[in-house]
Amino acid sequence: KILILDFGSQVTQLIARRVREAHVFCEVHPCDVSDEWVRAYAADGNLKGIILSGSHASVTEETTDRAPQAVFDLGLPVLGICYGMQTMAQQLGGKVETGHTREFGFAAVRARGHTALLKDIADFTTPEGEGMLNVWMSHGDKVTELPPGFKLMASTDGCPIAGMADEARKFYAVQFHPEVTHTVQGQALLNRFVLGICATKPDWVMGDYISEAVAHIREQVGDEEVILGLSGGVDSSVAAALIHRAIGDQLTCVFVDHGLLRLNEGDMVMDMFVGKLHAKVIRADASDLFLGKLAGVSDPEAKRKIIGGEFVTVFKQEAAKLKGEGAKGAKWLAQGTIYPDVIESGGAKSKKAVTIKSHHNVGGLPAELGLKLLEPLRELFKDEVRELGVALGLPYNMVYRHPFPGPGLGVRILGEVKKEYADLLRRADAIFIEELHNFKDEATGKTWYQLTSQAFTVFLPVKSVGVMGDGRTYDYVVALRAVQTSDFMTADWAELPYALLKKVSGRIINEVRGINRVTYDVSSKPPATIEWE
Ligand code: XMP
Repeated sequence: KILILDFGSQVTQLIARRVREAHVFCEVHPCDVSDEWVRAYAADGNLKGIILSGSHASVTEETTDRAPQAVFDLGLPVLGICYGMQTMAQQLGGKVETGHTREFGFAAVRARGHTALLKDIADFTTPEGEGMLNVWMSHGDKVTELPPGFKLMASTDGCPIAGMADEARKFYAVQFHPEVTHTVQGQALLNRFVLGICATKPDWVMGDYISEAVAHIREQVGDEEVILGLSGGVDSSVAAALIHRAIGDQLTCVFVDHGLLRLNEGDMVMDMFVGKLHAKVIRADASDLFLGKLAGVSDPEAKRKIIGGEFVTVFKQEAAKLKGEGAKGAKWLAQGTIYPDVIESGGAKSKKAVTIKSHHNVGGLPAELGLKLLEPLRELFKDEVRELGVALGLPYNMVYRHPFPGPGLGVRILGEVKKEYADLLRRADAIFIEELHNFKDEATGKTWYQLTSQAFTVFLPVKSVGVMGDGRTYDYVVALRAVQTSDFMTADWAELPYALLKKVSGRIINEVRGINRVTYDVSSKPPATIEWE
């Protein structure tokens, strides 16, 4: 395995991701772990190399973090990236200075010499025959003097020491960021370090992960009981399936049906978890409660708060019931937290000042309930969670479903939420999704459901005039929304084929009495958001 020490860079998670993409297991730990911790971590002989991440801090300040000395004493290969390079240089006797300007963006790096890391790995060659790499740089400080034993590995005009190596000790460092996709050879370079220089075996596969994770969950939980809020979404479903595999009936899932789920969603969740996996699931049908609380409320944030708040109330009631006579009561709350959530809540992103939308979350629950937290997916990326779900036997359609917001149709019915609206919307949306699955793109052979990142129908509580047969109609309008995005921070509206739009609008208007007009949303994010509320 590979250890990544995190000095606080926004992109540390990408290093982990690239290493995993090389099928090598790795873990990210904070940079301020002790020497003893590092030695203990390496003691079983499985640790094959260490990567030091970047940071926004400056090593020229005395109070900033340094790598534990043990990192350089274990005889293992070390790769320093950006700040990781600077701290390596400074700790091993070189010099780092604060530059007058920050270098930020693309740079062409000259790969000097023939180090095992950069040898013959160029994007292009200069007329003089020098190998050049197109890379991404983001730094203010730079190494100005090599530590003893190191040779120059790479340079740019603005940064004469952009890479250095002590090949005898297998210490390598680069000022640029190989983990971001802008660095064209980044994955190749990390593969070289991880697979070549560290000599790891590319044997990280999901099957192994399951047995490790199962053993770990059993060890953590012992004979205590666990409760989990199952939403039917990918993360909570995979967490539930994994924990159930580990501890069976010691797990109780609580599925809160707030009446704002998609068509037949509740039954599908029950069929899968109770019918196929034989897990214990309490289905709390709270739709009347939720709809009652939402009556007369039209502000989106107020609706989110009510749905989030009621969710906690219902969940707590169900958890309390488990404490009945004879029962031990749950000691653990399981959550489907995944690695990007961990980074997002601990990292710089959470410090952003404005709340565009307050996301429905149950972050305060464990403390309120006095439960310990069990988060078996904490170190996985979304695509790994999906792979794990498939490996655990969950159906492909459940695991590869588009994301669905916690407040559900509550934020897809504009303004006041009514049962009548929710029923119409559910039926219209099911038709849209069904046709997205039916229509294939010839060029790629993929369905339009696969080609979009998120697609759904929005209910507009306005009426428009139509004509059907000989009669006049005066009915509701829906909007179809389909976007393509890789991170949900920005998104483009999807250029769905007209034939698909035509089929969907025809079916909705004919099959869903009460809707006589269908529109397509052609707004991108920003300035629009993906959801309408
Ligand atoms: P927006 O609408 O902000 O959505 O562009 C970005 C992503 O977040 C989802 N979303 C939510 N998820 N609770 C959630 O769990 C919410 O309140 C919420 N609001 C938006 C949205 O579906 C999209 O995937």
